[in-house]
Amino acid sequence: MPVQLEVQIESQPFSSISSDAIVTYVFGDKEARMDGVLAELDRATGGKIKPLADSGELTGKFLEMTLLHYPQGLAAKKLLVVGAGKPDKFSHAELRKIAGAALRYLRARGAKSFAFIVHENDGTPAAAQAIAEGLLHAEYDSDKYHTERKPAKVMERVSLAGFPAHARSEIDAAIARAKIIGESEIWARDMINEPSNRLTPRMLAERAEAMAREAGLEIDVLDEKRIAELKMGALLGVAQGSAEPPRVIVVRYRPAQKKLNSPVLAFVGKAVTFDTGGISIKPANNMEEMKTDMSGGATMLAVVRALARLKPSIEIMAVVPATENMPGGRAQKPGDVQIAMSGKSIEVINTDAEGRLILADALCYARKLGATHLIDAATLTGAIVVALANVHVGAFGTPREFLDRVLESARAAGEKMWPMPIDDEYEEMIKSKIADIRNTGSGKGGGSITAAWFLKEFVEDTPWVHLDIAGTAWRDDAKPWSACGPTGIAIRTLIDFAMRQ
Ligand code: BES
Ligand code: ZN
Ligand code: ZN
Repeated sequence: MPVQLEVQIESQPFSSISSDAIVTYVFGDKEARMDGVLAELDRATGGKIKPLADSGELTGKFLEMTLLHYPQGLAAKKLLVVGAGKPDKFSHAELRKIAGAALRYLRARGAKSFAFIVHENDGTPAAAQAIAEGLLHAEYDSDKYHTERKPAKVMERVSLAGFPAHARSEIDAAIARAKIIGESEIWARDMINEPSNRLTPRMLAERAEAMAREAGLEIDVLDEKRIAELKMGALLGVAQGSAEPPRVIVVRYRPAQKKLNSPVLAFVGKAVTFDTGGISIKPANNMEEMKTDMSGGATMLAVVRALARLKPSIEIMAVVPATENMPGGRAQKPGDVQIAMSGKSIEVINTDAEGRLILADALCYARKLGATHLIDAATLTGAIVVALANVHVGAFGTPREFLDRVLESARAAGEKMWPMPIDDEYEEMIKSKIADIRNTGSGKGGGSITAAWFLKEFVEDTPWVHLDIAGTAWRDDAKPWSACGPTGIAIRTLIDFAMRQ
């Protein structure tokens, strides 16, 4: 889906910008800081802003919205000042949210265009990219299946102002990058929104095929026959309870010039298009949310989709195992033993711990295809929601240095991720009496860690990071800078990570 919103650089003086609105942000905590752009706008409007700060209405508190109508001295019809919070807590992550919140706030009030003015320190390409990413992220709303839609309010154009003229070409390039990233994020969020009757494993593979064709990527979709030939017993065990056949989607990007012995990075994403829990069936309450259990897979496909256009210098692949988890007459049952592609035997204690089963074979297959580094993303455990709520992604991995590099990208991308332990003590908890391993932890607690340990059994010595996005892939309520529904979490981080290599 193409992004409708146009983002460009504005070079006119603030007072003659004729967009529907002008937006800037003000630092502060209890008292707004009236320097820089604020002082300039205060002068231009003949002193309309300072009195608001003096009276305590304008404080600079993060995401506080102060709206002036028909400000004198400005060609724009509205002036919006967004709180930026304390300067020492300010980074591109805040800037991204401020830009996004401004878009959603003004769009709700009928504005179709605005100019976003940055402070002098933020006149950099990286800031422009963050702002454009925030705008494109905030612009998204899904209203596909209402037959009677309200006339949509659309933001058509946003210009960025306050950037130095000499950096123009770098800033244009930064905005172009943000567009590629934002568009791929939307592509993933649309898929995550789809109900399971409209996005089966086969349909997911078809979307991946269309994407790969358009992006010029290699694709190989394994059907149930090839999956069986490869002896992916863990994936097949999950899929056997469903009338829908499974797929394994492999999308590959190769750089124009590949250096000898350079790394091959595989992005492996869980795509359970619906997780009923299988025979260990889930309660009815909120089960509809399990249509989003393919978020990790959508994320990884979106990442390679963007990378096809951004052209990193290393080889990349996405490996996405796709299946339903259903309690059909042929479904696997608690106590069943499955043999994974790697040859390891697995005692299936709980059929609802299916994500780790399908990832076991996908991680093994990625290594077989030549991956030297593995990153997986999965809505894997309810336990990560207990540990980190809906705030942080749980990030596991070895060696620590590899995990730290992913966390560094997360910081740059403004996506919250927190390192989780994966010490040897937890391995004991997935030992089985009758097979090599069991698919749930024995004993109490540490559910997201034993799940990660299960994956580690199939990664062996390959550097690996596992992102548990169960708490962060979906948002029940909208935020000022983001719609409710799929968040697109980890897409920006992983694109950033690939581009740094
Ligand atoms: N898809 C779920 C995890 C999940 C929970 C995703 C909440 C999004 C929101 C996963 O397959 C699952 O059911 N995990 C079980 C594992 C348990 C049976 C060991 C869980 O976390 O309860
Ligand atoms: Zn499950
Ligand atoms: Zn699941």
